Amino acid sequence: MCGIVGYTGQDEAKDILITGLKRLEYRGYDSAGVALECASPATPGAPASGVTLSVIRRVGKVAGLESELSAFGAPSACGIGHTRWATHGRPSVANAHPHTSCNGRIAIVHNGIIENFAELRAELERRGHTFASETDTEVFAHLIEEAYEGRPDDPATGEPARPGSHDLMTAVREACTQVVGAYGLAAVCADEPGVIAVARKDSPIVIGRGERGSYVASDVIALIDATRDVVVLEDGQFARLTPEGITYTDAEGTPIEPAVTHIDWDIDMAEKGGYPDFMLKEIHEQPRVVRDTLVGRMVGGELDIDELGLTMEELNLIDRVYVIACGTSYHAGLIAKNLIEAWARIPCEVEAASEFRYRNPIITPSTLVVAVSQSGETADTLAAIRDARIKGAKVFGITNVVGSPVARESDGVIYTKANKEIAVASTKSFIGQVVSLTLLALLLAQVKGKLTTGQVRMLFRELGNTAEQIQWILETQGEAIHEAALACKDAHSALFVGRGMGAAIAHEGALKLKEISYLHAEAYAAGEMKHGPIALIDQGFPVIAVATKSPVYDKTVSNLKECEARGAQIIVVATEGDEEIRAIADHVIYIPPVRDAFSAITATVPLQLLAREVAIMRGCDVDQPRNLAKSVTVE
Ligand code: M6R
Repeated sequence: MCGIVGYTGQDEAKDILITGLKRLEYRGYDSAGVALECASPATPGAPASGVTLSVIRRVGKVAGLESELSAFGAPSACGIGHTRWATHGRPSVANAHPHTSCNGRIAIVHNGIIENFAELRAELERRGHTFASETDTEVFAHLIEEAYEGRPDDPATGEPARPGSHDLMTAVREACTQVVGAYGLAAVCADEPGVIAVARKDSPIVIGRGERGSYVASDVIALIDATRDVVVLEDGQFARLTPEGITYTDAEGTPIEPAVTHIDWDIDMAEKGGYPDFMLKEIHEQPRVVRDTLVGRMVGGELDIDELGLTMEELNLIDRVYVIACGTSYHAGLIAKNLIEAWARIPCEVEAASEFRYRNPIITPSTLVVAVSQSGETADTLAAIRDARIKGAKVFGITNVVGSPVARESDGVIYTKANKEIAVASTKSFIGQVVSLTLLALLLAQVKGKLTTGQVRMLFRELGNTAEQIQWILETQGEAIHEAALACKDAHSALFVGRGMGAAIAHEGALKLKEISYLHAEAYAAGEMKHGPIALIDQGFPVIAVATKSPVYDKTVSNLKECEARGAQIIVVATEGDEEIRAIADHVIYIPPVRDAFSAITATVPLQLLAREVAIMRGCDVDQPRNLAKSVTVE
């Protein structure tokens, strides 16, 4: 969703801000803008600092903002920038960030939601502030202005006038005390040239010091060119950036020394590397993700997940598991349910975090909640984690982002080793999640005595083999996938079906297709077809089935015959060597023979590729689908 960048130093700020904003484009946005500190013309009445703020905003892509800025000649060595994904107020220039105070001397960019913005706005308007946008964010600019310049008497509440701090950092801290909600915030003030004041609560902020200045961003990808050593600001921490250095304080203004995190992936890993789009590149990275996620997990013949934060005794007491997640991560949970219940024999429920958080689920101290999130920032998943912990559950996070809120707020964490995922549609992070959840299921089964150490070792080896199996699919099934994509590109709707593991995979296949090709798709357990969905089927209707060799293979084939009899066009993901399936399938895409427990890791790959091919044939932007954001940081 929204993205923040800021720079103060010796170089041209607008170039650094545009580069940073482009790096943040993958998160999804609808408008972008910058505020630059520029020298004022030497005219009578010009401000004492000799600096004014130039705010330039555009609806649409960062490229549009860039071309507008190329005509902007004034040099600037300090500024802030933002990509906005509309929440309060439609996408428009007025609603784009940065927002400014009434006197235009303070500008801010903000990620998050201000929950009490309506009350704050009413109070500020009563005290004479004029608002220029429909956003919640703008109240922050006016609150900081009051804290900086001083506040008049408030006749309505009887609150007496307050003097201003005339210090940007102090004013930001004061403004934050009045705001309820989430914020990552960066502010500049024309009366303190070169200073950027930064605050954070429930919305990520990273800060870095390079050789030629100080940087702030909402995502490390925007500042990795300048430095690999970053501070991930914690909630309630503040930072003051100047060209010379950075100081950190807590909410009281007491200096603190936050930990520095070293980023060990580099920018090449976040670029296309010769692929036409990020999605294809990321699909091709999946064999590596399987291998990397397994590295170091079998130590001396024993499964090792030492980050779990739970002792073996505590694990043994677990009698119920909830997997909470959203979107693709939720589908990884559906696969985990099959494995945890089959191997560890513990009841496992999978719930959309947005439902879990409002449902008062049954949680006891022996409940394990597994929170799965690629970004580690998803608002609903975070809220569900907090709720589960308050109710006494142990929470274990599975995320792709080191130091993310999900990692920090969980009792233990596994990192999925997918590296930065840029395409909005999750692919490689899903594979990392499924592999990680498989490890967790194996561990629970071993601790509970349901699988022997020997069985766990054997399954671990087979799990590792899925890396080569994915590679085989990538190398051999392109043509079959292309033909299948041609067969459904003009459809208005498609059904994805399967049974057992196949049903869980079907859900992920349908989500991939609809989110990037805008072709309506639904997933159904194949056995449910005749209870309703089969009514949809007429001549040529695409039914995409996962019918790999499994205990429910024959049942799935019977369900497909019923679809075939009604004229459906049938596309099947099947096991290599299965020739019989050709009798009912119009198109067959093969995966190598694999144990059913691991079939999700391989059978999902053709569905990812199919969705991408269909999207391209329909002229869609596969990396940045409309209306979607990479990190969903609002409820
Ligand atoms: O970052 P998270 O895994 O928490 O994100 C959850 C969903 O927003 C995400 O999986 C979304 O559904 C993707 N667009 C799927 O491709």
